[in-house]
Amino acid sequence: MAAPHPALGDVAAYVFDAYGTLFDVAAGVRACAAEIGPQALELAELWGLKQLQYTWLRTLMGSHADFWQVTGEALDYSLAVLRLTQTAPRERLMALYRALAPYPEVPGVLARLRTAHIPLAILSNGAPEMLRTAAASAGIAAQIDAVLSVEAVGVYKTHPAVYRLGPERFGVPAARLAFFSANGWDAAAAAAFGYQAVWINRRGQPAEVLPGQPVATIATLAEAPALFGLE
Ligand code: LAC
Repeated sequence: MAAPHPALGDVAAYVFDAYGTLFDVAAGVRACAAEIGPQALELAELWGLKQLQYTWLRTLMGSHADFWQVTGEALDYSLAVLRLTQTAPRERLMALYRALAPYPEVPGVLARLRTAHIPLAILSNGAPEMLRTAAASAGIAAQIDAVLSVEAVGVYKTHPAVYRLGPERFGVPAARLAFFSANGWDAAAAAAFGYQAVWINRRGQPAEVLPGQPVATIATLAEAPALFGLE
């Protein structure tokens, strides 16, 4: 057995961000790329950015709407900007978003982490029904012990009330929870809150310049078990 990463200590649960970390958010746009045309990649980028921007704006405005609504509104805005409202298959893109594929390594990694007999949880902006549907269609529902959604607090990441859901659920300080996110800003915010945050830097991006430093950065979740001494 490999030694755990020196910065990573004893953990009471493994907590995962959902979209972009477990579920491949670009899969839907890729599946519709032929209908969308040459702007498909641009649409995927803009949709993702706008979706997050709307979560932050709504949190600041004190005007919460669930992630399904925000995701649809972000898509409508993005289609309008790119002048794709007449051509892109809006309803199909939304349906695909509900049932995204997992990244290829995810089912095996979750199965490996489960052998440590430590609970696995999702902590996400997603509405509970979205998260349950996505986990089921990705074939990982049985691996997940707890689904923690921002709907419990009515604000989005990076509000501390969201990160508090983990320690509340597991009855331990955040320092005893591992948190995995492919969103650099989410890993930073979880680290700032006190989690042992691991950034899954899938796209080789520079570190976010924000409060909070992840204790480790890896390229895909495939490296996660080794960080915790599980090969
Ligand atoms: C989530 C988004 C931030 O699942 O990826 O919370």
